[in-house]
Amino acid sequence: TDLAHIRNFSIVAHIDHGKSTLADRLIQLCGGLTQREMKEQVLDSMDIERERGITIKAQTVRLSYQAADGETYQLNLIDTPGHVDFAYEVNRSLAACEGSLLVVDASQGVEAQTLANVYQAIEVNHEIVPVLNKIDLPAAEPERVKEQIEDVIGLDASDAVEISAKSGLGIDKVLEAIVRRLPPPRGDREAPLKAMLVDSWYDPYLGVVVLVRVVDGVMKKGQKIKMMQAGASYTVDQVGIFRPKKENVKELSAGEIGFFTASIKEVADTAVGDTVTDEKRPCEKPLPGFKPAQPVVFCGLFPIDSSQFEDLREAIGKLRLNDASFHYEMETSAALGFGFRCGFLGLLHLEIVRERIEREFNIELITTAPSVIYHVYLTNGDMVEMHNPADMPDPVKIDRIEEPWIRATILVPDEYLGAVLKLCEDRRGIQQDLTYAGARAMVVYRLPLNEVVFDFYDRLKSITRGYASFDYQIENYEANDLVKMSILVNEEPVDALATVVHRARAESRGRAMCEKLKDLIPRHLFKIPVQAAIGGRVIARETIAAMRKDVTAKCYGGDVSRKRKLLEKQKEGKKKMRQFGRVEIPQEAFIAALKMD
Ligand code: GTP
Repeated sequence: TDLAHIRNFSIVAHIDHGKSTLADRLIQLCGGLTQREMKEQVLDSMDIERERGITIKAQTVRLSYQAADGETYQLNLIDTPGHVDFAYEVNRSLAACEGSLLVVDASQGVEAQTLANVYQAIEVNHEIVPVLNKIDLPAAEPERVKEQIEDVIGLDASDAVEISAKSGLGIDKVLEAIVRRLPPPRGDREAPLKAMLVDSWYDPYLGVVVLVRVVDGVMKKGQKIKMMQAGASYTVDQVGIFRPKKENVKELSAGEIGFFTASIKEVADTAVGDTVTDEKRPCEKPLPGFKPAQPVVFCGLFPIDSSQFEDLREAIGKLRLNDASFHYEMETSAALGFGFRCGFLGLLHLEIVRERIEREFNIELITTAPSVIYHVYLTNGDMVEMHNPADMPDPVKIDRIEEPWIRATILVPDEYLGAVLKLCEDRRGIQQDLTYAGARAMVVYRLPLNEVVFDFYDRLKSITRGYASFDYQIENYEANDLVKMSILVNEEPVDALATVVHRARAESRGRAMCEKLKDLIPRHLFKIPVQAAIGGRVIARETIAAMRKDVTAKCYGGDVSRKRKLLEKQKEGKKKMRQFGRVEIPQEAFIAALKMD
């Protein structure tokens, strides 16, 4: 197709504002599916995604649209992941197109994630068409939301398209706006091949499938290609597009988006943002903006049942085939035995991987405290990257420890602002900005990632009844007074419960953890001390009293059903416990102990 008849676009939106519903509508009108094949939300292919209602893997679909001017256009929609953990993937997907539809729920207005995504689109010079969705809802206030888009984002919203993706109202206007208001791609078909690797995934039949945006030149079957950053060469097996069903094509040329396969074994060999060129006639320079995937959050994953270690190794290996941003290496813990130290792009990414292992591979896991990467500077001038508190060097050899700080943007209705400020202050936050947009406040805080990584997001949601939205970027590393806090159960340190904390907060954190553990660890036949310590110094202590031999004795009287319940509960608890010396610690203790109320 000639460039003038191509439009490449993505949809940016906050979660639940209707991105998938709109994409479905566009596919329904212009895609290659029959009514029967048109099932709900075709773009979200993994069921985990569907359940969580978020889009993890970017996918793309080619639409064919006959516009009011009588011409037929090729529209390529790139679906971007919708979560802060995947910001780099979003950035590359956006860089593969020329424009965006900014979908805003007309009954909700602009949210933190809308902002984060739209700024990214602006950064890659997108033309942006605001789309107000859900105007069928009685609570929809399109005029107010238009004003908000102008005030908060600074985009002209006078020509915003008003639609109901659910009922199909206004979808034709969206298609016309794409053709008329978004620019066509630029590129040179005759130049050497230059294509951006936008995404890749593992397919059991095809091997790795690579999604690309061709910038210059042409890609064809049989062509010898080279990945410029990875330095590897392959021969193209197939080129094709998704409508959204897979369809092979003769070639992908400048301006177009599609996929290729080339007998690539692992997605780890296909870095997002890499430049694909012709081996024999390469382009001069790779595309700008490439960044290797960097895990941000680390934790240990251990099987509850240690005989499942080999199964876990296999499960993790399989997941890694399809997820290049997930890192792992073997780890042994004195307390937990054999497991893996894993790195993730963020907490949501961690949750997804953990859930898939438990659900798809049936392995119950103990997840140790998530940790960020600390830069530990030693007195001899060396720096070590530490992502496991258990690896903390001897304190006398440490000059200073630096931790990552983030810049967080939170949007919250006025009435919850006080609670949000308090939460940020409690987590060592430093306020940067506070502005109002209608009845909403937008606060910007600098926060140590270490304080956010754990349960910040859950707390934020709960104190604002789900009304706050949150987005962050990592900013810099900064030295702080950080110490390793060990937890001792029955006088034995449990390495999986060790954390790095700010010294000023160590005592209250230690006390809170000991109190939690006291409730989480069941009584044993003997008394169990639970202690928090920094170096050799105990800073908090609780004691779990010994249990009387007859557990049912505390059920006064003869309430049989209660007795049975108690025994059943104990049995259930048993399944998910691990033995630490003489003490059994339940699985949930490892995570729950770190949650702060
Ligand atoms: P994520 O995939 O989680 O990022 O969400 P999304 O932005 O793709 O939203 P999705 O399309 O899944 O829609 C979220 C909810 O809003 C669903 O329950 C939809 O049925 C509903 N919805 C979408 N569009 C409309 C609309 O025009 N009107 C109404 N009333 N509901 C809508």
